[in-house]
Amino acid sequence: MYFDTHVHLDEFEAEESTEAVIARAQEAGVNRMLAMGGNPEANRLAVELAGRYPGILYAAVGLDRDQASHSPDLADSASLAGSSGVRAIGEIGLDYHYHPETVAAQRKLFEAMLELARKCGLPVMIHSREAEEDTLALLRAYAQTLSDPSRAGALHCFTGSRRMAKALLDLGFYISFSGILTFPRAIELQEVSNYVPEDRLLIETDCPYLAPVPHRGKRNEPAYVIRVAEKLAELRGKTREEMARITTANACTLLNIE
Ligand code: NI
Repeated sequence: MYFDTHVHLDEFEAEESTEAVIARAQEAGVNRMLAMGGNPEANRLAVELAGRYPGILYAAVGLDRDQASHSPDLADSASLAGSSGVRAIGEIGLDYHYHPETVAAQRKLFEAMLELARKCGLPVMIHSREAEEDTLALLRAYAQTLSDPSRAGALHCFTGSRRMAKALLDLGFYISFSGILTFPRAIELQEVSNYVPEDRLLIETDCPYLAPVPHRGKRNEPAYVIRVAEKLAELRGKTREEMARITTANACTLLNIE
């Protein structure tokens, strides 16, 4: 059984029914997924799907960096965070690559989301691009306020340095690898992944983006998370079944799922 810890099911809807995507995942053995929020519509869909697929689909709610520019409605995420099936606040974080003009607003929103997570006792699913230092500074301050930093959260779609990985691990965070790990030129990232201890590894697709090899360039979907597990298995000299078991157990621990 595989657990895809980062899916954007709201981005599929125009093309294909969510039911079909989830059915293919289950057929492939991907029996658990964390549906990401990040904006009011995605949050509502994630909560709704978690209600429709109990024990299979879980929800994350929050406001991502794209929301920083248009006076975000903090109360909306706060009220949804208490819904059943919500197991994380996400995705949230900083992106200085795509949104260098909103840096200050992004930091403010990210801090508000971390505060929401702390109040709700939920782990955070973090996006960070070209913002390592600020991400770490805010996460360091956040982790210090937690009674149980082992459930602080995860850095999703990790592509950072070994130094960044170490800093996050020291704070109690998990590290989630996506299909980027399977790309032939991702040698450095593959080395960093070997440095992450077994009990802090997660896998994800970030679908519909970033399809792993051999689906690269096509639309990604949760069923393909198996390719990420296979790559980790190859790098670590394990079987993909072992990697499935390990990463699923880690996700369940982090997200408080039995
Ligand atoms: Ni994402």
